[in-house]
Amino acid sequence: MVEPIKVTTQKEREQHLQKAHFNPFLLQSQHVLIDLLTDSGTSAMSQNQWAAMMQGDESYAGARSWQKFYKAVHNLTGFEYILPTHQGRAAERILYTYLGGKGKVFISNTHFDTTRANIEFSGAQAIDIPIEEAKDFNSDYPFKGNLDTEKLKQLFKRHKKNIAAVIVTVTNNSGGGQPVSMQNMKEVSAICKKNKILLILDCCRIAENSYFVKHREKKYAKHSYKEIAMEMFSLADGCIMSAKKDALVNMGGFLAIADKELADACMSLLIITEGFSTYGGLSGRDMEAIAVGLEEVFEADYLNYRIKSTAYLCDHIKKIGIPVLYPAGGHAVYVDAKKLYPHIPVEQYPGQALVCALYEIGGIRSVEIGSVMFGKYDKNKKLIPATNELVRLAIPRRVYTQSHIDYVIEVFGEVLKQSKNAKGLKIIREPAFLRHFTAHFEMI
Ligand code: F0G
Repeated sequence: MVEPIKVTTQKEREQHLQKAHFNPFLLQSQHVLIDLLTDSGTSAMSQNQWAAMMQGDESYAGARSWQKFYKAVHNLTGFEYILPTHQGRAAERILYTYLGGKGKVFISNTHFDTTRANIEFSGAQAIDIPIEEAKDFNSDYPFKGNLDTEKLKQLFKRHKKNIAAVIVTVTNNSGGGQPVSMQNMKEVSAICKKNKILLILDCCRIAENSYFVKHREKKYAKHSYKEIAMEMFSLADGCIMSAKKDALVNMGGFLAIADKELADACMSLLIITEGFSTYGGLSGRDMEAIAVGLEEVFEADYLNYRIKSTAYLCDHIKKIGIPVLYPAGGHAVYVDAKKLYPHIPVEQYPGQALVCALYEIGGIRSVEIGSVMFGKYDKNKKLIPATNELVRLAIPRRVYTQSHIDYVIEVFGEVLKQSKNAKGLKIIREPAFLRHFTAHFEMI
């Protein structure tokens, strides 16, 4: 597909942003020039995926498209019980509603926002334990997505029977898109097995993670990307995938598990809330496209271009003086807004200020991953800030060319020049959960 993009003036963008209450989630897409809001569901599909969609079998039960989907997911993950859902969070809702509830504890390298929201909505607690090395944005530590295994052992002791599951997210989206090593996954798996705790892989970017394992973990240099992924799945008891990422489709997801009893319980929830077991939340044509996408995403040429083009953006904006989380993650580049705007206190959301500047100056849409997304209030309604104030530039798969990315780099040059003029924001309206999607802001 070729999709036209529209150039707007800065004056027009200022008006659009005001109308969107300084929240880019509320902008209309035709007013965005380069859309780096998310890599989720924004991939361009291949000719083979479009061709497969034409063969979609929309039978209610036992469709041919389901069989192809089942085979693709089963061959990759090795799990027997596969539940198709309309996207990742639907699989999360099913599994974490069943496992969660008051008093239960989930532990992860970093829970993604919908993961945390589903867990907390069930009444359970979500604890993040990324490794200490993840805190240093400038070191070139190769696997900053790893989970801290010492802390894991301590938490197992402290919470004993209340632990519902450990969730390893690859790559670690909320922790900067950083990869998890196979070694770390093996250690986590061994600790979980010893304590009989369920280990779930949030595998929506498993192909990208496999790229890093192959090129950064010596032992895996000769493995194919798919073999690496398969080994990682073999260490878990189940997985959740938002197919909108590494299955290269616009909509879809699944939950896959090894244990029959757990699968049966989840299946009932699937049928109540998503659909019958052989389509869940998906149409036949969606399942066709996912089956093809799960193959294509492991192709060496694709992955090489994908990871290198993300690093290209990261390295170039770093060179002109933009503080970034280094090295680049797989799907996105993360900018340290606290460092870029030291004059804006965290209570005034420096990340949101940068998101607004990128849109006003260059029509680029990005997302704040900081205290807007993860901040909480104490009893006196005082902000408990997030650990970091980041802005994510997520790169849609197979969409933008190098010249689009060069333009983004130029806009950053301008953002840097104007950084002293950037202003903080305050929230004037917000919902109880996932407030970043719909909150309204005012410039201070
Ligand atoms: N897990 C991770 C690690 C994710 O990044 C996402 C979505 C989900 C689960 C939920 O999947 O959107 O299909 O319901 N991430 C998107 C993003 C929204 O922009 O990073 P979903």
